[in-house]
Amino acid sequence: MPLDTTSYKIPVARSVADLRATVADWRKQGLRVGLVPTMGALHEGHLSLVDLVRTRADRAIVSIFVNPTQFAPHEDLDAYPRTEAADAEKLAGRGDLIFAPTPDEMYPAGFSTTINLTGVTEPLEGQSRPTHFSGVATVVAKLLLQALPDVAAFGEKDWQQLQVIRRMVADLNIPVKILGGSILREADGLAMSSRNVYLSPDERKAAGGLNVILRETAEEIAKGALIHDATTKGIDRIRALGFDHVDYLEVRHAASLESFANGRAEGDARILVAAKIGRTRLIDNMPVG
Ligand code: PAF
Repeated sequence: MPLDTTSYKIPVARSVADLRATVADWRKQGLRVGLVPTMGALHEGHLSLVDLVRTRADRAIVSIFVNPTQFAPHEDLDAYPRTEAADAEKLAGRGDLIFAPTPDEMYPAGFSTTINLTGVTEPLEGQSRPTHFSGVATVVAKLLLQALPDVAAFGEKDWQQLQVIRRMVADLNIPVKILGGSILREADGLAMSSRNVYLSPDERKAAGGLNVILRETAEEIAKGALIHDATTKGIDRIRALGFDHVDYLEVRHAASLESFANGRAEGDARILVAAKIGRTRLIDNMPVG
């Protein structure tokens, strides 16, 4: 399949062979390569990751692939927004290549390998979505090995995902520098997410309060409140906002995601939340102190 250079103002590779041929060409010119893995439905948060890799690389690839293996059967795989033409429009002049493989290109018949990490995958999202991180780790390992970039960027909004990827890259000696991009927020502080489009106007209004509760809970804990007391109060406040269910509101060591044995935050701590409003599950996080 030749590189698609006519559909959009940015070329698209749909096969691993075309991706590799383009990267090989850049390498011959001595250029450094960056990768931003995405599932599309791009917003400013993704575009800021493209800008981030551009600070360390001469060329930026954006992969767009709604990865089926990271969705559980009851999750939103079919409903997940797919907006390739609009994504390409946003990337024109900002990225250099879209890699948009088909599911068959990524998972051909007979595909049998899954990457499972222990430890950092187990709490938080690992409790709510037990198969999620093996799907993420497997597809990210594939993307990194397909493109072999010098740097790859992932958003801090998916904080646990970022720690999982850092762990995997270190454990498997994948030769790439992983960059974490800061969370971009809407005017009311709601973390930008491709899933925000699911929110009804009332839900969207309520969702804007999540980051406020997260910040205020983090501030209480930083001032010395017991984690359990502050997060119990925070969960009640999130429910009172109109959220149907709080999967977790927890404070953890930022990199290992282990809990604090003595009930108070110390050193590099992060507060993380996942909560459902209507059919939309939102996540957010920030540093404590
Ligand atoms: O964060 C995402 O959009 C996805 O989990 C990723 C990293 C692109 C893997 O499919």
